[in-house]
Amino acid sequence: MNAGPRAKTLCRRIFGRLRDAPPTRWLLLLAGLLREARLVWSGLRAQSRDDPAAVAYRLRRNIHRLEKALGTRNRRNRFALTYIGRTVEDLGLLLRLRGREPARDADLCWAVDVLRAYFAVVENGGVVAAAREEFLHRAGETGLASRAPVVRKERERETPAVSTDRLRQLAQRRRSVRWFLEEKVGRESIERALEIVRLAPSACNRQPLRFVVLDRPEVAAVAAGLLTGAEEYAANVPAMAVIVGRMRAFEHPRDRHLVHVEAGLCAMLFLLALETLGLGGCCVNCPDVQAQSRRLSRFLGLEPDEQAVLAVVFGKPDPEGLVGRADRRSLEQLRSYYPS
Ligand SMILES: Cc1cc2nc3c(=O)[nH]c(=O)nc-3n(C[C@H](O)[C@H](O)[C@H](O)COP(=O)(O)O)c2cc1C
Repeated sequence: MNAGPRAKTLCRRIFGRLRDAPPTRWLLLLAGLLREARLVWSGLRAQSRDDPAAVAYRLRRNIHRLEKALGTRNRRNRFALTYIGRTVEDLGLLLRLRGREPARDADLCWAVDVLRAYFAVVENGGVVAAAREEFLHRAGETGLASRAPVVRKERERETPAVSTDRLRQLAQRRRSVRWFLEEKVGRESIERALEIVRLAPSACNRQPLRFVVLDRPEVAAVAAGLLTGAEEYAANVPAMAVIVGRMRAFEHPRDRHLVHVEAGLCAMLFLLALETLGLGGCCVNCPDVQAQSRRLSRFLGLEPDEQAVLAVVFGKPDPEGLVGRADRRSLEQLRSYYPS
């Protein structure tokens, strides 16, 4: 079939369904799209107003771009010309806003180190010269000394301490745990798990998420009760972490889905870390249902550009609690090779 008839068949399929759908379904879809648009809009507004958190995300992204460029093979003599001015400007902004103790501010230390490395190799002149002058002035004010090289050779990284078999064991042992002992989870364990979550990969190293941890069982139980996916066991939940995505991290609407991707990566690390600490947990969906997401946002005091992306209930597993088998699809069903 050529393109014309194929497009016609496709349209008929889509619009045929559209005609049959009840109006409420269309209204719900529209409301959902508007909610998403509002979130994205709030984030873009924070970016354009130079909200300090938005500037920090933008700076991290640009510093990441510089670092990546520094590690590029056959690097050009002049690079990053379109964003170096903005990057130095954002550094200046952040130093003014929160630079009282720059040496304790991981963002600022990293930014200064990467910029130093950049100006050490880039060919001077034009926008680079102006940015360099501004940077030297700013960096001089911070008194920050370079701490570590910003790019390293692969062979200088430590060898992995965990074998594939051990990793598989850990992944295999992890199961969604929904029944817990009535024991408060200690903050020390929570912090140890979150220290691992911090290491999750992040697009352009923006790190657009924050974890809101509810570690008082009576509070966690109420919050879990707001999520339809945890209704049956909410009352029994001793702790919950809500992964919140912040749209102010993004300069472009095209990146709006990254919070979902990154929440998955963080949740996985969190669940595995809980396992190693003798704890158990279960992801709980935060579906885009207006009433539910509004209640949860209000409960957590989220800002207009923030959304609860995923929750994880967790605690000390009840040894008598039942855990599902949850068989997986076979390797053949999971993957294909291209070309085969
Ligand atoms: C994104 C995501 C959302 C989930 N939402 C819920 C939920 O709302 N309620 C629930 O009880 N379990 C939820 N789960 C847990 C899944 O049901 C569970 O991971 C799956 O059945 C496989 O079982 P296992 O985790 O024990 O291997 C969710 C899991 C994921 C990854």
